[in-house]
Amino acid sequence: MNEDESKYLEVIEKFQHCQRNWDLEKTVDDETIDYLLEVGYNVPTKQNLNSFKIVCIKDRDEVLKWARIARNSDDTITNVGENTKQFMDKGGLQNPQTNANLLFLFFVNDKERTSTARRERERGEDPSVKGWRKEKMLEVGLAASAIGIASHMKGLRTGFCGCIWKEIIPEEWTQEWGVHPEDLAVMFGVGYPLHDDHRLHNNGSGGKQSYPNRPYEKIIV
Ligand SMILES: Cc1cc2nc3c(=O)[nH]c(=O)nc-3n(C[C@H](O)[C@H](O)[C@H](O)COP(=O)(O)O)c2cc1C
Repeated sequence: MNEDESKYLEVIEKFQHCQRNWDLEKTVDDETIDYLLEVGYNVPTKQNLNSFKIVCIKDRDEVLKWARIARNSDDTITNVGENTKQFMDKGGLQNPQTNANLLFLFFVNDKERTSTARRERERGEDPSVKGWRKEKMLEVGLAASAIGIASHMKGLRTGFCGCIWKEIIPEEWTQEWGVHPEDLAVMFGVGYPLHDDHRLHNNGSGGKQSYPNRPYEKIIV
């Protein structure tokens, strides 16, 4: 592995971790936001369709509003670990990675499913809502990944959150973006770390347990 390759691997290893504390005194500049959106919208998608929409929230109150629904529903809150539950009882967030300087929301773009562009480029019957969503989730992953790596290369940190109480998101929250709450695929915090240890909460207390990588195989044939 040469120097560039080992630096790239270091970036990926940082990207693997979920940043749970943020220096909210700092601001990510608009040029960087524009660059990150450009990165996210230029990943490969099938037939270069508009498979997803990316919303970047920079307004502090708006970020917090979304961070509050990055949690289990009341019905499934029993699945949450004891430490997190205690933290939540004191007003803490279940997924503080979402309360970042920037919060990116990735929505599957259901409008494109029945668009003229899709019909012309892919032909065949319109895909089902379920089938389309399943296929587009992969492309959302590519976009989020590209934004994540670009962020880390600029010294920022990131944290994914797939735990979202979608059922309580009012339709009005997403209306002007032309998407529906149920199409929200993943939330992704991006910003400046407050502590070196990515697991700690902003108040310095221990956050969620970190698990080591499961063993993996490099299969080469
Ligand atoms: C698609 C996706 C969804 C994730 N959702 C959550 C989540 O809901 N809550 C959470 O705490 N971490 C979530 N993570 C973060 C991973 O758990 C984390 O990146 C991994 O455990 C390693 O990081 P760690 O060292 O911080 O544990 C998610 C990661 C990915 C890629």
